[in-house]
Amino acid sequence: DFLRGYIYLNVLVTGGAGYIGSHTCVVLLNAGHNVIVADNLCNSRFETIDKVKQITNKEVIFYQIDVTEDAAVAVIFSNHKIDAVIHFAGLKAVGESVEKPLVYYYNNIVSTIILTKACQKYGVKKIIFSSSATVYGENEIPFIESMKLLPTTNPYGETKVMSERILMDVVNADTALAVSLLRYFNPIGAHESGLIGEAPNGIPNNLMPYITQVAQKKLDKLKVFGNDYPTVDGTGVRDYIHVMDLAEGHVAALDHLTAGVHIYNLGTGQGTSVLQLTKAFEEANGVEIPYVIVDRRPGDIAECYADVSKAESKLNWKAKRGIVDMCLDAWRFESK
Ligand code: NAD
Ligand code: WQD
Repeated sequence: DFLRGYIYLNVLVTGGAGYIGSHTCVVLLNAGHNVIVADNLCNSRFETIDKVKQITNKEVIFYQIDVTEDAAVAVIFSNHKIDAVIHFAGLKAVGESVEKPLVYYYNNIVSTIILTKACQKYGVKKIIFSSSATVYGENEIPFIESMKLLPTTNPYGETKVMSERILMDVVNADTALAVSLLRYFNPIGAHESGLIGEAPNGIPNNLMPYITQVAQKKLDKLKVFGNDYPTVDGTGVRDYIHVMDLAEGHVAALDHLTAGVHIYNLGTGQGTSVLQLTKAFEEANGVEIPYVIVDRRPGDIAECYADVSKAESKLNWKAKRGIVDMCLDAWRFESK
């Protein structure tokens, strides 16, 4: 165990019971790292931690805390010699962020400040932050890290822009810090075991969980938000990435983390329309997804996909799973 702290790290994963966090815990544990999760379970369940243990046959240390609370965060840093923080904890429902802006600004920004402060106090140098392609706003596609960011259309998006900015300013003042800002495109799919996946509360906002619930007949039909966009078939185009590829991207980012701020797109570089994804799901799983075309959803852009060359060259990471895998794995999880 003499490599602990050198290549095997004690990683604090905030939001580790959530969708992307739980898959990343699996990849971290399988790579030999120790995982400490901090999650208040506001959008997840403790059982997910048990499933992570079951998949990996490894231990996970779990703290049910709110990471906006200074004292609760301090307990973790004083109990464990943390080497790196991966900060997933946050609220992510775009529509809700318009209704409750203060809840979103408080939770998503204060958590970033509190954790970064704790890192400085306890000498933790490595921070990985969950950012989003939403920070690009309505830029030219493909989105590339060097672009000037354009305004987002909602408070959720602004919390990501602001958290990125806070972390950049902190590194500017403390050049020993090593920060990676990971801009995720659209994660879908699930671990191949079908034990963990995306399980939103209530009616899903996002496309894939909506499709799987239509397939389950929990929902009647998919509402396609607009078919008059300037895209291949008029429906919105996104860069869907398998959540396990995304999880592997975090471990690659951790392995390559050096002092300074590093921004990476984590996507596939491929665009898929709403109707293409729906058809792929039907064909992969042999189920029918009835749909109806409705009005555009306010705030949506026509097309969004990544330039992934930076992550490929600097992190030696590339998404390997395709749309069919994403559809099969999403359905395996939902139908379990
Ligand atoms: P999720 O809701 O499944 O996971 C977030 C986790 O954070 C949940 O388990 C929740 O209980 C926890 N949490 C929230 N606020 C907390 C707090 N104050 N203290 C402790 N725990 C708290 O969401 P996800 O899809 O796994 O997203 C993870 C991160 O990635 C988020 O920051 C999200 O904004 C970002 N992101 C997600 C997507 C996406 O499409 N899913 C895309 C881009 C970025
Ligand atoms: C995908 C496409 C919709 C639902 C959101 C956030 C973004 C990021 C990822 C966190 C679009 C269409 C959807 C439905 C539909 N999250 N659609 N019917 O909007 O690209 O990104 O999640 O950072 O910030 O905005 O993802 O899955 O909601 O939509 O037609 O019931 O599917 O219009 O074209 P989106 P999505």
